Amino acid sequence: MLDSQLEELRRSTLAGFASARSLEELEKARVEALGRKGTLAQISKDFGKLSSEERARTGKLLNSVKQDLEGEYEGKKLRFEQAELAERLAEEWIDVTLPAPGVRPGSLHPVTQLQNEIEELFTSLGFAVLYGPEVESEEHNFDALNIPAAHPARDMQDTFWLSNGQLLRTHTSPVQVRGMRALRPPLRMIAPGRVFRNEEVDASHEHTFYQVEGMMVDRDVSVANLIYFMKTLLGGIFQREITVRLRPGYFPFVEPGFELDIQCLICSGRGCPVCKHSGWVELCPCGLVHPNVLHLSDIDPEEWSGFAFGLGLTRLAMMRYGIDDIRLLQGGDLRFLTQF
Ligand code: FA5
Repeated sequence: MLDSQLEELRRSTLAGFASARSLEELEKARVEALGRKGTLAQISKDFGKLSSEERARTGKLLNSVKQDLEGEYEGKKLRFEQAELAERLAEEWIDVTLPAPGVRPGSLHPVTQLQNEIEELFTSLGFAVLYGPEVESEEHNFDALNIPAAHPARDMQDTFWLSNGQLLRTHTSPVQVRGMRALRPPLRMIAPGRVFRNEEVDASHEHTFYQVEGMMVDRDVSVANLIYFMKTLLGGIFQREITVRLRPGYFPFVEPGFELDIQCLICSGRGCPVCKHSGWVELCPCGLVHPNVLHLSDIDPEEWSGFAFGLGLTRLAMMRYGIDDIRLLQGGDLRFLTQF
């Protein structure tokens, strides 16, 4: 009884496979015969009713039917797949003699270009280039720079504090501290990098921008040395006459402290939103390193003196390339960036 059912299953399923016109039809025929709830599974249910002799014989037959059907199914499936592939290949073709589509080369961000130039200029003058971490300790960012906890100067730069008590560095000056402690005097170093401030964004202020710290500690360093390096820096970057002014400025880590401003190159000093209609742009505060700062990094202020500056690199890029809104530099707009 089961034998004839199995033979019938073999015959009808092979006929079903033979008449299938697509992979879907083939699959349907397979599921009907060999699927979990298919005819073969139904027939197998009655297997238990057979005597052990019958079971051995019919079991063989069942296996041979199953193998036949599976073999036929795989063969036909492969033929369908090959036919489909051949069809696709006939439709899709590539003319390898056609010219390649245009390749748009990338370019360095204007701030990166300027940073590279400044690094080259200062290394040629014997300065080391250091890169400190963007996540800093309070000690490096403030305390070691003569800005103790209760000092009002902490509010000069609005800080992004992290939940673990660390902070996003508000300036590159903590790298001065790292430099003094690692290199020991006499030393010359610059530290370019990204800094962060929790402040309102406008045409000349970003919450994330770039600075380049500079420092020299040696015997008898004076304001004359500072002015020499500032002139060399700006002459190298602008390659033309520019108007600068030096005025007193207060930073707890320098004494005396100065603000070096550049006449606004966006409006030629006539007044615009970038220079807040003053004609001048704050570019590079600087000064002689405060004796306390040397002392806090274990350097004897009786023996050593130094200068330090904190160049606003993003502002310098604006002046150099005539960019009238700082927000363009971080906007990621390719129409803007591909001009450089
Ligand atoms: C400082 O950050 C001091 N650490 C600089 C310094 C170093 C002084 C060494 C003395 C000795 P200040 O906050 O002024 O100073 O920032 C320095 C420069 O960064 C500014 O002159 C300006 O060019 C630039 N700058 C400041 N805030 C922003 C901002 N929000 N967006 C873009 N540039 C800014």
